[in-house]
Amino acid sequence: MPDKQPITPLSKVLSLTDKAGINKTYIDIIIEEDIPIVCINKSTKKRRLMPFKVLYGNTENFWRQSGSWDYFLEEESVEKLREKTKDKPGVWEYERLKAGSEDAEEPGELEEIEEGFGKDYKTFSSMTIVEKVDFLNKNNKKLNDIISQKPKQVAAATEVLVDAAKDAALINQTALEEAMRLGDDEAKKLTQDLVDSTHEIVKSTANLIKEDLFNNDLMNTLVEKSNGTIVQHMTRVYLNGISFLAYYNKLVSRSSAIQKLRISFSAKYRNFYHTLLPHIDIDDIILERVFFGGMRAIQPDLFHKWAVGFLIHDIGKAAAVEYHEGESSYNRNIVIDHVKQGYKSIMAKTNYPIEASLITGYHHEYYGDPDGYGYFRAYLQQYKKQNPDAKQDYVVTFELEPIMDYQALAYFPAKVLEIIDVYDSVTDPNRVYRKPLTPEEALAMMRQEFIEKKLKIDPILFDIFDAYTREKYVKKS
Ligand SMILES: [Fe+2]
Ligand SMILES: [Fe+2]
Repeated sequence: MPDKQPITPLSKVLSLTDKAGINKTYIDIIIEEDIPIVCINKSTKKRRLMPFKVLYGNTENFWRQSGSWDYFLEEESVEKLREKTKDKPGVWEYERLKAGSEDAEEPGELEEIEEGFGKDYKTFSSMTIVEKVDFLNKNNKKLNDIISQKPKQVAAATEVLVDAAKDAALINQTALEEAMRLGDDEAKKLTQDLVDSTHEIVKSTANLIKEDLFNNDLMNTLVEKSNGTIVQHMTRVYLNGISFLAYYNKLVSRSSAIQKLRISFSAKYRNFYHTLLPHIDIDDIILERVFFGGMRAIQPDLFHKWAVGFLIHDIGKAAAVEYHEGESSYNRNIVIDHVKQGYKSIMAKTNYPIEASLITGYHHEYYGDPDGYGYFRAYLQQYKKQNPDAKQDYVVTFELEPIMDYQALAYFPAKVLEIIDVYDSVTDPNRVYRKPLTPEEALAMMRQEFIEKKLKIDPILFDIFDAYTREKYVKKS
């Protein structure tokens, strides 16, 4: 692992603006110059960079709020501000926080500097592609050892599982960055072994999770190891996504579950779906129209392709930006590009299955709600223009074609991902803006904001997710 990085001395934002009373001058410069704010978690001392604009947009005086974070400017940012305001003497006083100073916490003693993609990022990005593939294969061997271990040592197995997932996310992230600098064919060649090895890791992971060995222990280990980076988010979403799909498969293979759904359909769900398919007579809105071809279990091959999609879904994200859907600080302009970038890079630069890139390009689509933005919106609008008679008569499809042919509104794994993604964002233990929600709070918030107020996530899938979360994480915690 990389050595401890040198720490830039920081200046505390708090006193800068509180004392002087003319902080607007500085705020304007900070926004104009895109100067980042360093957020340090009061208890863990973990550190991350955030755009000032996003925090400020959420709460004007965020640095005065008592919460779990302290906010700082880097030394060089302070110098920049000084330089820009040198003709306005006396505007600002600030406390300097340096390692060893008496009156302050010491950023110099931080154990880890975690920004963007986390501390292992450097290690993996300096590896050659052969070394990366080798690393993945070694992790896969560890997973396979656990698969054959009887009885299993759950704690050790969970550790291996979480580490393998985290490494796979980060290795893919760094490899994709390298691939983006190459032509498409060359990039596909470069990433081919990586694609194959990642697929093997995904298969082993799905195997282990399907055994139902991992529930609350898995989540706790994930949370303990989480440091707020994008990679940790992808890791959690990937593992929780696989675990949820396994739960879904078990549920729908019991015919009584589908029967129950059919019985409650008209009272609980029909109205929701009618708002999505207003051109269809309400009595014709039945379960088969919601799930194209009927609700069914996901076969292993498709399951694994989707799980790859979960693992790499946010690969288009930039390191130092926060992406928290469902919050008032959620910044559409910053976020919108990651879907496009992710989709394009997976499609053009790798031989990952098209299902995986479609999941990436379709997440955040939110059933066409103006708050959402799938990569395919423009494509579908264009399609409709050229084929004015085309109608989206179905809601969710398990296959790709009904999306491309303008028959169905949404892609099943992308609807699953939206739910897992929002849940992860609001329960993320490293949230900067607010305290993380408990699982129960998150479920209540999502139901209210993402279904009842505006229909963005799928109500049937959400009810299954609600039952899954309560069974896995609420009851046992
Ligand atoms: Fe995303
Ligand atoms: Fe995400």
